[in-house]
Amino acid sequence: MTQSSSASMGTPQVLLQVNGLTRNFGGLVALHDVSFNVARGEIVGLIGPNGAGKTTAFNVISGTMPPSSGTVIFDSQDISAGPPSKVVVKGLARTFQSTSTYPECSVAENIYRGMLSRLKGTTVSRLTGRRTGLLPAQQVASEIDEILNQVDMQAWRDVPAGSLAYGLQKKLGIAVALASRPTLLLLDEPAAGLNHEECNELGRLLKHLQQQYGLTLLLVEHHMALVMDLCERIVVLVQGEKIAEGTPLQIRENPAVIQAYLGAPDYAHA
Ligand SMILES: Nc1ncnc2c1ncn2[C@@H]1O[C@H](COP(=O)(O)OP(=O)(O)OP(=O)(O)O)[C@@H](O)[C@H]1O
Ligand SMILES: [Mg+2]
Repeated sequence: MTQSSSASMGTPQVLLQVNGLTRNFGGLVALHDVSFNVARGEIVGLIGPNGAGKTTAFNVISGTMPPSSGTVIFDSQDISAGPPSKVVVKGLARTFQSTSTYPECSVAENIYRGMLSRLKGTTVSRLTGRRTGLLPAQQVASEIDEILNQVDMQAWRDVPAGSLAYGLQKKLGIAVALASRPTLLLLDEPAAGLNHEECNELGRLLKHLQQQYGLTLLLVEHHMALVMDLCERIVVLVQGEKIAEGTPLQIRENPAVIQAYLGAPDYAHA
């Protein structure tokens, strides 16, 4: 994990600061005055019932939609104004709740598109207008291989993404995000639709990405066993409000969280 001089004093270096974020849709308040931090190298969970505002938080943080008020500071820069193409160049990538790869393109081509996203919006790409020519072919091939290795998908390199099993399509979504070389990765329900075995494998992959590559992760997930196992801290949203923040143990035992979310029949086993 990279640490600043302040970290040597024992204070973890803040990578993402979400300050008083509010997002309205007409009369609906999807997020209301939500604040939390993510430290460099941490895995933080963002949980809450359906409609709590988790995806909206990801949309605002990643620059897809502006906040109604509040700010998002990433790596000491204000990224509240987006757009996503500039935010990703700064090192913040995301995956989507639904699979979002190009089904007719091969796995390798999808990863290549992820690599290009880190060039879009940069001055050099605008000046040359040659986004696709900026990476030498040999570098492209070796980076694709490296990313396929990271996610253990070498066997599917030339297969069209649309023909992959669902679990592999979701993993490809992570690979595409990794191709932009993020320091922070936002994952929106990566375990949704995965079977037990795939879910365990996902947990191992995310831990590996954190430990091996120093990646910082913000994870939206309803799969409580995965969240409790993986996350060092958890932020809980209910109806657009942050109702709790703490360690997995603190969250599991928090009466307000149990009442609003964990005690619901679907999550009572968590
Ligand atoms: N683009 C939009 N326009 C209007 N309303 C929206 C929009 N996006 C989200 N909402 C509303 O904002 C609220 C929060 O939605 P959001 O998708 O952020 O919830 P979520 O926590 O991600 O839920 P889930 O667990 O079901 O994915 C919901 O009431 C939703 O209907
Ligand atoms: Mg959502």
